[in-house]
Formats: sequence, C-alpha cells, structure tokens
Amino acid sequence: MSETEAIDAPALGRRELYDNLMSVVRNRITTRQFDPDFQVPEEHFELILEAARHGPSGANAQPWHYIIVRDPAVKRQIADYFVAEARFRAKKKMKFPTPNYAGLATAPGLIVVASDFRYVSAFPVLKDDESDLNRMYKENAERILLQSVAASTMSAHLAATALGYNVWWVTAIGQQKAQEAMKPLLGIPDELSVLDIFCFGPPLKPPYKRWKKELGEIMNWDVFNPDNFITDEELETWIREKRHKVMYRDADNVD
Ligand SMILES: Cc1cc2nc3c(=O)[nH]c(=O)nc-3n(C[C@H](O)[C@H](O)[C@H](O)COP(=O)(O)O)c2cc1C
Repeated sequence: MSETEAIDAPALGRRELYDNLMSVVRNRITTRQFDPDFQVPEEHFELILEAARHGPSGANAQPWHYIIVRDPAVKRQIADYFVAEARFRAKKKMKFPTPNYAGLATAPGLIVVASDFRYVSAFPVLKDDESDLNRMYKENAERILLQSVAASTMSAHLAATALGYNVWWVTAIGQQKAQEAMKPLLGIPDELSVLDIFCFGPPLKPPYKRWKKELGEIMNWDVFNPDNFITDEELETWIREKRHKVMYRDADNVD
C-alpha cells in the first residue's frame, strides 16, 4: 500500500476511535521489572516501530533511529551502565529517587533510541555563525530535534501498550562515558547520540496507575490561569515531599 492510500480519517467528532485511543493512552503504564522469559514476536517490533515511523517532526526530518537489542548479554551490559550511572548520581548526592536499573536486563523488548544531531542544521539556524543570536536559534533547534524524537517514541510506546505490553522510558544515560561505551556495542556511528531506551514487555508484578494532575491544573482557556502557577517554594516542597510518591506509588496513595 502506498503512503497516500493509507489515509483513513475518522469522521469528525466521532467518539468511538477517541475512546479506544484513550483506553490505550490511560493504560500506558510504566513498569520497571518484566517477565524475563517472555519472547516478543518479531512482528510486534515491526508493528511498534511502524507507529514510530509516522511521528511528526520539525522540517519532517525524522531524525530518529531505533535499534532493537535482542542479545541478552548486550541487554545486561546496557543495564550495567545504568546501574553504574545511578550509583554515580547517588555518590554525587543528586537525591533523585532512583529505580533499580537492573530491571533493564529483564525487558523482553529493548529498543535503543538514537538521534542524528546534525539535523539541527535543517531547522532555522544561521550557517557558520557563532553569535549569541545564533546560539539561541541553535538551542531552539536542539529542542525541535528532541521534541521530534519524543513524538515518534511516544507513538511507539502507545503501540506497545495497544499490544498489551507495559513500557519503560529510560533517559538516565548521563555520562559521555556510557554513550561512548554503548555506541560501539550497537554499531552506532559517532555522529549519532543515544537519547533513551524504550523497554516493554509483560510486567513481573501487577502494574499500578500513577498520579496524574487534574485536567483543570494543566488546561488554560485563552490566558494562563494564575491558579495553575506554583511558587519556587511550592516546587521545592513538591520535590521534597511528593516526587518519590508520584514516581513509585499508585495514584490512591500519594497524599
Ligand atoms: C522523557 C522521559 C524520561 C524518563 N526517564 C526515566 C528514567 O530515566 N528512568 C525511569 O525509571 N523512568 C523514566 N521515565 C518514566 C517516568 O518515571 C514515568 O513515566 C512517570 O513516573 C509516570 O509514570 P507512568 O509512565 O506510569 O504514567 C521517563 C519518562 C519520560 C517521558
């Protein structure tokens, strides 16, 4: 089928597809430990990355690459980098409530997400210009690139959810060292960067739905609703008292 033949738009305002979509969106739930014995059929990888392929991107650059890791030894090595990074962060007293990254090695589906930062020059930037003005444009261009890859990756996560899997989005790559160690392991060229890891599979333990903000807390009509603004102090309190709960408890056990 050609790309244009694939257009099959739903009728305007029809709820049925929306409701089906929302059941996928609501059930996209992170798990950090998987059933290690489950085998993901090859077709599922294709279905999931087919969803990623249709993601929107700045300048339609599609600056993403997905590397499916099947070798358990390589998964273990990747997990080891994350465990080491978590240890490093703990030593640096980052005080981030870190999960157990050993769970990465248990993921039946493990996909490394890489991006080609050279595409930054495909977005609005000045050529060969080191000025402050261009630095601003370049920063924005990097954001365009990162948002593009995230948009594609999110489609993949939703596709995995639609196939009945739980997911895990892992960005805690940190040090350059881990990047440099991971790239040759997967044959990733120097020009590309590993942005995150996408794990999926059946969960080892029953997953739980995490706290989400109420709609009114994020939705603003016409102008920003000042009720939705929090002060620096409130943010600090949230980080100190709530963050670990919203990450590792179900929504009913946050307060
Ligand atoms: C951009 C992004 C980065 C994330 N990075 C990590 C990570 O490095 N380690 C981790 O354990 N979870 C990570 N997560 C997962 C979040 O912790 C998780 O989505 C959040 O707690 C909400 O839970 P939910 O996915 O079940 O709704 C990340 C999620 C996103 C979208």
